[in-house]
Parts: sequence; C-alpha cells; structure tokens
Amino acid sequence: MGVAAALGACSLGQQTPTLGVYSGRHYNTDQLLYRRFTEQTGIRIKLLEGTDNSLIERVRSEGSTTPADVLVLVDAARLEKATQLGLFQPLRSAALDRDVPANLRDSQGRWFALTRRVRLIVANPQRVDVGAIRTYEDLARPALKGQLCLRDNKSVYNQSLVADRLIQKGHAATTTWLRGLIANVNQPFFTSDIPMARAVAKGDCGVALVNSYYVARLLSGQSGAADRALASALKVILPDPSHVNVSGAGITRASRHPEAAARLLEFLASPSGGKGYAEANNEYPLKGYGDNPILRRFGPFRDDGVPIQELGAHNREAVQLMQANGWN
Ligand SMILES: [Fe+2]
Repeated sequence: MGVAAALGACSLGQQTPTLGVYSGRHYNTDQLLYRRFTEQTGIRIKLLEGTDNSLIERVRSEGSTTPADVLVLVDAARLEKATQLGLFQPLRSAALDRDVPANLRDSQGRWFALTRRVRLIVANPQRVDVGAIRTYEDLARPALKGQLCLRDNKSVYNQSLVADRLIQKGHAATTTWLRGLIANVNQPFFTSDIPMARAVAKGDCGVALVNSYYVARLLSGQSGAADRALASALKVILPDPSHVNVSGAGITRASRHPEAAARLLEFLASPSGGKGYAEANNEYPLKGYGDNPILRRFGPFRDDGVPIQELGAHNREAVQLMQANGWN
C-alpha cells in the first residue's frame, strides 16, 4: 500500500503542478472556488481571464507552448469552435460521466459543461398579454407586432437559440419562425442583454429574450437598487420547453499536466464545486435548479434536451439563416 501510494503521488510529479487556467468567465467568486481546490489538492492555479474569442485565439496561437492546461468558455458555440480548432484533448473520467449529463458534454470527452443557463422571455404586463406567451413560437405570432426586442445576430446566445430551433424543427419551420420574429421587431437591435431587459421593464419593449442570469443579476441588486426596482416589474417566462446553454471547460491539447487538469474539471463539475461556479453568476447547476432564491422564484423549467454539442455543430447554418431573414 505504501509503495502504491508513493507511486500515486509521484505520478502527479515531484512537486504538485501549477495549472494554467484561461477563463472566459470573470466573477470574483470563481477565484474563491479555485482557492478551495488548491486547499484540497495542493494544486495551484494561475488564472488568465479574457473574452472567450480572445482566449481561443491565444491558445491557438500559443500552440504547443501554451501555459493553459484548462480552457473555460461560455456558450456551446465557443466550446465547439475550440473543439474544431483542435484545442482540446479527450478525457475519460467516471466522475465526469456521473456528474455531467450526457447531453451536456462532448461525446469524445473534449469538453464538459459546468453550469447551465436558460434563454428565457421577459415581458412587460402593461404592454403585452403575458398569459399568451409560453413558448418561443409565441414570440413570432402577429399579436406581438412591434413589441419584440432582440439582440443582434452577433449574439452567440441568439445563434445558439436558432441552432436549437433548427435541430428540433428543421430548416423550413425555423425559417417561418424567424420571419415571424423579425416582423414583430420594432426597435433597433440591441447589443447586450441587460439594457434590453431594462427597456422591457420601462415599457420601451413589450417582450424580449435574455439569459436567465442577467435577470437574476438585476433582481439581486448587484447592479444597484434602481435596477432591482426596475426588474421587479418584469414578468419572467421560462419557455416550455426551454433552450438551455452552458459554460464549460476542457483540457488543452498541449497541457503538460492532464491528470491535475482532470482533477480540476472533476472538482468543478462535482455537486459542491459546481454549486460555487453556478452561484458566482446566478446560473443553474448541472442537475436540478440549485438553491439560488431568485432562480427558485422563476420556478422550474423543462430542458428541451437538445445535446449542447449539436448547438455548436449547427452554428454556421443558424447564422446564415438569421442573416437571410433580416436578423441583423
Ligand atoms: Fe453573458
């Protein structure tokens, strides 16, 4: 036993390694979680934060010399982009198979989801009949003409939503839906979710599509009492079924510490580690709805079950369809 234990310790290297983590997430509480990982394992973390696309480009250009062992990205489309560029190496892990549902990880183990978010509907009850809005289809009905606010087609969140529709409904039905949606837009396209949620709350728009964590952030008071008061006027609708997206991570192909990197992924995907990652950004854990009181008030949602990997695979087709149908 003593020899086996010693060999086990040796396999991680004489000294415990320091892991390079490049992360498209940027929340202070993520760092508390990394510190907890270091306390538990002795493995230190050197963190570099940036935008998802800049980190993908950086790992790509650094090639075999990248100091990044783990790349954390937000949204299925970015995870797929990094995968297609060959930036990840595959990992098989019983712990990750157990903790990450199969539709929330790459089939070859190149990345694993760590948190979930829903692209939900916010509505202003003064402007629209909120009882008549229950699905993404409802947003394309003529009754909402001039009421719908949307982010522009550069939003990866919207690209993934359209990819989701393509997978479930096919090309023809998605085209019809897109045309109905665009016919209802009566505003310039927004460039981010938060101002759009505020516009709905103020009555400048009747209804909009935003990520769950942005609404929760406004309601939490994190961005001030004025935003909290404003957001309390919003009616939050979790579409049935809901389009779910993720943040996730994989081990870089050039990692010199894949075993330590696997331990970090297992820690972040575990119920306790994952709880910290989800809480940091008002996200849902990989399973269940978590215990964030604001998200609990939104109520449960029914995941449409589309594999996250498929969202990335349909990204290009989704963008083309958006452009062809006036989603600028
Ligand atoms: Fe975001």
